[in-house]
Amino acid sequence: MISNRLGAEGPRVSALALGAASLGGVYQPVSQAQANLVVAAALEAGVNLIDVAPYYGATRAETALGAALRGVPRDDVVLMTKVGRQGDKSWDFSREAVLRSLDESRRRLGVDRIDVLQCHDIEYGDRQQLLDEALPALRELKAQGVIGRIGVTGYDLALLEEIALAEAVDTVMAYCTYTLQDQRLAPVARRLAAQGVAVFNASPLGMGLLTADGPPDWHPAHDRVRDAAMAAARRCRALGADLSFVALQFALQTAAQAGVVSTVVGMSRPETLRQNIAALTTQIDPAALAAVQDALAPVKDLGWDLLPGHGGKAGA
Ligand SMILES: NC(=O)c1ccc[n+]([C@@H]2O[C@H](COP(=O)([O-])OP(=O)(O)OC[C@H]3O[C@@H](n4cnc5c(N)ncnc54)[C@H](OP(=O)(O)O)[C@@H]3O)[C@@H](O)[C@H]2O)c1
Repeated sequence: MISNRLGAEGPRVSALALGAASLGGVYQPVSQAQANLVVAAALEAGVNLIDVAPYYGATRAETALGAALRGVPRDDVVLMTKVGRQGDKSWDFSREAVLRSLDESRRRLGVDRIDVLQCHDIEYGDRQQLLDEALPALRELKAQGVIGRIGVTGYDLALLEEIALAEAVDTVMAYCTYTLQDQRLAPVARRLAAQGVAVFNASPLGMGLLTADGPPDWHPAHDRVRDAAMAAARRCRALGADLSFVALQFALQTAAQAGVVSTVVGMSRPETLRQNIAALTTQIDPAALAAVQDALAPVKDLGWDLLPGHGGKAGA
């Protein structure tokens, strides 16, 4: 497994990370047996970086992941979870909520130490509370050794960059912004990487947008973007290719030049995991890539901040 260092003196983390939101049943129901299989397959294949949050599946993802990790040596996995997001439209970055959330995550995950603790979807929370309470609390926990690194996550790239640099955080996770449809993360990630901030690219499939079946109903993309993604899927099919595979090949194989340390993909089945590991190194079919880029060109870089769609879970 290709791996990169998480910060100057950090552990090596796999270039493909397991996004455990899927284990909370956010796309389809996932049994504990299935969660156990995919986590075991990931570790076996050298995928040692796993991202989760209390919010995913209303704590179900952390509970399922914790059960799947039982008996796994602690140093075999680099665990990232989050604080601050409590529901679809509910955030709390108070010190008390952060400390309580961390304790609950540690209990659900069955670990004493969290490798990366991130403030979750910061653009929606109270900025002053984030700066005055959550981030100072995280810094204290890092100094005590309870957490290894502190980070921020979200969709608003300008805010992530501003807060990351002003607050000297260790990591940034952005989602849906380094995909075949939207590549706005790349210049931001390169600037952050130059300042020593480790950047993760989550959702290279755009939360299911760049899949043959299309995104779930709650997805915030505009119909124009959905239609273009469906056209891309059709054009891939006609060429005997699969849109998800091409999208993953692109995101994984160009991550390093985009300043990305690891690409976080939601996977709830070992077959998906195996396919995505292959996407790391299999040469991209140039005809399929050109067809997808052509289909997506009219909506390139048009995220739902610029072209609002269905509101999404956090939106109106
Ligand atoms: N706001 C946030 O906190 C936020 C937002 C987005 C993402 N993230 C992080 O990033 C992770 C990944 O994002 P995500 O899970 O939302 O979306 P994603 O990675 O864009 O898509 C995951 C979905 O795509 C499917 N998939 C994966 N590889 C595939 C392939 N090769 N072919 C066909 N389908 C494939 C998965 O299927 P199966 O489940 O059937 O395997 C799953 O349904 C999350 O788990 C989370 O850790 C965070």
